[in-house]
Amino acid sequence: IPVHVENISSPSVESDSQLCSQIATAEKDIMWGRGTSQKLELGQGSCCSSDESVVKTQKSRRLREKQRAWQNSFAGQQILQIRKSLPSYGVRETFLQALSRHQVLVVTGETGCGKTTQLPQYILESEIEAGRGVSCNIICTQPRRLPVLSVAERVAAERGEDVGESVGYKVRFEGMRSTNTRLLYCTSGVLLRRLMVDPSLKAVTHVVLDEIHERGMIEDFLLVVLKDLLPRSTRLKLVLMSATLNVELFASYFDGAPIQQIRGLAYPVEAYFLEDVFEMLGYKPKRLLDYVQSRERKIEHHYIETNISTELSDPVRDNFQSFDNRSFNRMTQDCALNWSGPEFSLIEALLEHICSNEKKGAVLVFMTGWEEIYGLMKQLKSHSILGDSRKVLLVGCHGGMTMTEQKLIFEHPPPNVRKVILATNLAETSVTIDDIVFVVDLGKAKETSYDVHNDTPYLLPRWISKSSVLQRRGRAGRVRPGVCYHLYSRYIYNQLPEDQQPELLRTPIHSICLQVKSLKLGNIVHFLSRALQPPEIIAVTKAVEFLQTIGALNEFEELTDLGQHLSVLPVEPRIGKMLIMGSVFHCLNPVLTIAAGLSVRDPFLKPLDQRELAEEARLKFSGDSFSDHLALLHAYERWDLAMKENRARAFCSDNFLSMQSLLAMSSLRKQYLELLRASGFVQDHSRTLSEHSDDTTLLRAIISAGLYPGVLSVMKDAVSCTFKTVEDEEVEIHANSVNARNKMGIRFPWLVFNEKVKTSHLFIRDATGISDSMLLLFGGRLTFGNEPGHLLMDRSGLEFFMRRDLANLYVHLRNTLDTLLQKK
Ligand code: CDP
Ligand code: MG
Repeated sequence: IPVHVENISSPSVESDSQLCSQIATAEKDIMWGRGTSQKLELGQGSCCSSDESVVKTQKSRRLREKQRAWQNSFAGQQILQIRKSLPSYGVRETFLQALSRHQVLVVTGETGCGKTTQLPQYILESEIEAGRGVSCNIICTQPRRLPVLSVAERVAAERGEDVGESVGYKVRFEGMRSTNTRLLYCTSGVLLRRLMVDPSLKAVTHVVLDEIHERGMIEDFLLVVLKDLLPRSTRLKLVLMSATLNVELFASYFDGAPIQQIRGLAYPVEAYFLEDVFEMLGYKPKRLLDYVQSRERKIEHHYIETNISTELSDPVRDNFQSFDNRSFNRMTQDCALNWSGPEFSLIEALLEHICSNEKKGAVLVFMTGWEEIYGLMKQLKSHSILGDSRKVLLVGCHGGMTMTEQKLIFEHPPPNVRKVILATNLAETSVTIDDIVFVVDLGKAKETSYDVHNDTPYLLPRWISKSSVLQRRGRAGRVRPGVCYHLYSRYIYNQLPEDQQPELLRTPIHSICLQVKSLKLGNIVHFLSRALQPPEIIAVTKAVEFLQTIGALNEFEELTDLGQHLSVLPVEPRIGKMLIMGSVFHCLNPVLTIAAGLSVRDPFLKPLDQRELAEEARLKFSGDSFSDHLALLHAYERWDLAMKENRARAFCSDNFLSMQSLLAMSSLRKQYLELLRASGFVQDHSRTLSEHSDDTTLLRAIISAGLYPGVLSVMKDAVSCTFKTVEDEEVEIHANSVNARNKMGIRFPWLVFNEKVKTSHLFIRDATGISDSMLLLFGGRLTFGNEPGHLLMDRSGLEFFMRRDLANLYVHLRNTLDTLLQKK
């Protein structure tokens, strides 16, 4: 008779084995019908039978032996010396002690002091040493995927292992871990998804949330979930890690959790602002003026080109006090926008100055995105000093880096070569590069912001906060005293906000609202009101309405079947809906392409000097479809063919297409397909993928299903054509859309679009023409209006007047379609 004893845990290997022998005796007693005299000390813990318990004890012991052997080896000792030199080592013991006494701990320390690589590792080491190696399960989250991979690799190496043994990682589409993995580095999104299958994190012993100062949406969300969970899971420990000092907010959110501060070895950094840089470079007023004029032309050009205003409402605007010179002011404003062109020349001049006159040390330039990074890199490559690979090693650092590029960032070049890294704000706190002495900061970062009141998201370079400025400056003082050049004036610096606004307050929160429902966390408004800084109620109501409009929630705010399906796909709800539709209607192949196209940078390039030709190329792909989405689909399909025939580069340059964006689409398609397969949406592979792939009418309908409620009505009279949203706002079509060329020719009553951008006007970018019936069948819900024969669509201002019999037919068709979709 096997005896199952539940809830056993013991503080050490020794007491584990003692317990096991007690159990074994009890087992024997029972088997012989003697009853048992053994008293078992039961504690909390995982369920195990005596056999399992023995196995666990043995495994834990082996883990400890292995760890000790590595620590005593020559290589292990060497690595330990390096680890000991990190500031975090000084707090190792106090940290572990505090953690044993408290359930929540907040840790702050300068970037590079060893928070991410060391603290979770200390926990792992001490658990293994205490003989609890097998039962410990540590999860450390990162807001971005890139550091996850490199940190896991680093920590595994520090433990003398490969990734996937005791240290693993998991990001959205890939991962490396095994049943032996005890410390998992993952993105915050992965932890969120784990909560779906394991809402009380039963098997997890420690959660470490890293980079919480960034106030990402998922992190803020996880904080609410964990705050609820901790009193129920008393075994679970939570560590919050931040690179900035002001963490009282987090500590008080967790009822005065203790704060552990790691004091770093920061060297002083001299800071210069734009006015100093001009003086340093010896710019004469004439040169400055030329500079500014060329810049203005460029800006104007760009303005006409894309109809995007220059976002000058920033604190920059008019009255510069420190440097009262009109041209200079203009220069400063534009400089902060980070477009290619003259400010590249300024960076170039500054880099040349550093490389020719300054002491040794690598340079880190903070820019906004990879487009700018590659633009500047191209320009620098033709420079006599900066482009000479015997003198300068130029490296990019951004979220889309390959592994080889990543390795380059950390590389130490030969002594006479200077490393210059062009980075996004990834290098601000997530990635630590050891040998930086000079920092060039343009003061902006790309971030999404969101105007709650007209529900319009923006993705624009925006001013960073003062705390980000300090972070960036701090990157220069890691190894010795450094220098930081801020390419904006002191005046602007003084105007910057102290801290970054939390993402929860500046982006649409549809996905988060869906998660609240799918994790069964109750009423959405109520749940989110417990966030560290809750979003406005109107933002929540709007998001709930949106989810109801697309059919993910019903009118009682309950998850529908579609909503359930959407919540397991880690993509934006509208893209998820499009993908599900594509699989249900067996035309997934093109739908994968269209959905991927919505998430990457527009592959159609618009070189300033060949604008006409580029437009022609785009129109050629669209034919007379009046659809940017179909144009992209056709371009992608032709490119795919060209790839197979090894002539993709030529194809891209002939057709003004970006190879990089198309490659990104190709990998995204694969990822989407993988997700759909994993969630059971793709069963009969070839049918689901291509049975109806050539049916463009069906594709239009599915595009409208995904993009609804992004609908415009096309209003034509004899001479003009205007476009209105369902909220009756008039909008313009972006010059890049194929629909902008021949507005009068548009032969569809409606356009669906995926993005509304507010700049000087309200613009829509990519759009596709659709018919009444597509909108009626694939858009929002249908209801009858008050008047006879008056059919309307729910939750939008769209109205149709039609005969009652026809209307009935539509309702019938629509219900059939809904049933089909919900059942899947
Ligand atoms: O998280 P925090 O910024 O406090 O520091 P960390 O990422 O744990 O980095 C500690 C040290 O490990 C730094 O000196 C990094 O240069 C080094 N490191 C590394 O060499 N390779 C990595 N992939 C990550 C960190
Ligand atoms: Mg870190």
